[in-house]
Amino acid sequence: MRQALEGIRKNADALIAAAQNAAAVDELRVRFLGKKGELTAILKQMGKLTAEERPVIGALANEVREAITEDIVRRTAELEAATLAARLEAERIDVTLPGRQPARGRRHPFEQVLGELKEIFLGMGFDIVSGPEVELDHYNFEMLNMPKSHPARDTQDTFYFTENMLLRTQTSPMQIRTMEAQKPPIRIICPGRVYRSDAVDATHSPIFHQCEGLVVDRGVTFGDLKGTLEMFIKKLYGEDTRVRFRPHHFPYTEPSAEMDMSCFKCGGKGCSMCKGEGWIEILGCGMVHPKVLENCGIDSEVYSGFAFGVGLERIAMMRYGIDDMRLLYENDLRFLKQF
Ligand code: DAH
Repeated sequence: MRQALEGIRKNADALIAAAQNAAAVDELRVRFLGKKGELTAILKQMGKLTAEERPVIGALANEVREAITEDIVRRTAELEAATLAARLEAERIDVTLPGRQPARGRRHPFEQVLGELKEIFLGMGFDIVSGPEVELDHYNFEMLNMPKSHPARDTQDTFYFTENMLLRTQTSPMQIRTMEAQKPPIRIICPGRVYRSDAVDATHSPIFHQCEGLVVDRGVTFGDLKGTLEMFIKKLYGEDTRVRFRPHHFPYTEPSAEMDMSCFKCGGKGCSMCKGEGWIEILGCGMVHPKVLENCGIDSEVYSGFAFGVGLERIAMMRYGIDDMRLLYENDLRFLKQF
């Protein structure tokens, strides 16, 4: 029996040392130390031994069990260390490598100009509002003094959902919605998307952007309109920029005007940008028509106001000297990266 025990110890020693993974080690544990294992089988035969032999063999058996247990613990630790070393090697990160530069985005030139415009008007005490792009004929035309048969509608054909519901052709309906919702004093701008059934070319798009402005209070004059808009243009294009007002007609303002600014490129001498004029048309404006005020329940004997509407693409194109509107929509990074 002594020999058998020594044999088990040697055999286990060699096999455990050679085991290549945790599963193999566990199999050996069962084989040698398990309930049906080799060591247990020997111990079951202890009954056959004499009283003198029994404690001696018993002690040896314990020794062998301990030795095998130690082998197992040692081999398991070795295998774990090797696995860890292999993992560390495989997952090694070289922190000295130069990092990969993440691509840095930037704001679209259109958004940049819109941001500047908002800042300028916020600074003058205006609120920023927004309104529905799917609009009622009632707000887009009727309430603005443009009944169904009005010729001014001809320049603003759009996309109709029903006879009375359409994609708004201008941000002007927000004048009405604002005056219906709040009482004077009113000072708002409303930037937003507008639609017209125009074909795409260098200066037209069926979807474009406008910003409406509206001021209503006691004693608002054309002088306030001029001062506000001149300030706006100078802040956006520089102090040297000059503006001029030409009489015009809009059904919802009286009097109405168009505002030009001195050409940002030639300063007024005349160049290809301003087609030799020295001036560039920039927006429509006027004193809110008394009938429009009355439509909204505002007493035109007590209150007066001015309004304006400006094409945002145009503003952005002038700001950066862009000559084709399509460039703003194509999202060509070679173009956008310049701003
Ligand atoms: N709604 C006009 C357009 O789309 C622009 C405009 C002109 C707006 C005069 C106004 C205004 O508020 O007073 O062409």
